[in-house]
Amino acid sequence: MKGGDGLSKSSGIVVELEDGICGVDENGGSVEMGGIELALYCIKGRFYATAAHCANGEHTLHNGHLSCTGERGEGGSVQCAVCGARFDLRDGRGQSCDSSIKAYPVRVAGNLVYVGLG
Ligand code: FES
Repeated sequence: MKGGDGLSKSSGIVVELEDGICGVDENGGSVEMGGIELALYCIKGRFYATAAHCANGEHTLHNGHLSCTGERGEGGSVQCAVCGARFDLRDGRGQSCDSSIKAYPVRVAGNLVYVGLG
């Protein structure tokens, strides 16, 4: 069953926060869950998860350049370090190209970060 945020009970626990501090910072981090490699980002306290690799499937995104795009710290984008294509972290849409990447719903409950893979 999925909730309004698109997360099902099979959503995995990715990161456990300790005293409000996570191991994922604004530079992002790479995690593997259920055999799927993800890039996980934390921008101004909000988490986002995308496919680990960029649109051409060869380059990792967690070491790409992140920026915050929302007026109140909402949203953000990641830029492929190789070709410079930029992707919205909320839906994976390309902002500077026609390509897109997979974006996953994220929910924080207590000190656990869940990512919906479905
Ligand atoms: S080489 Fe990474 S998106 Fe173009």
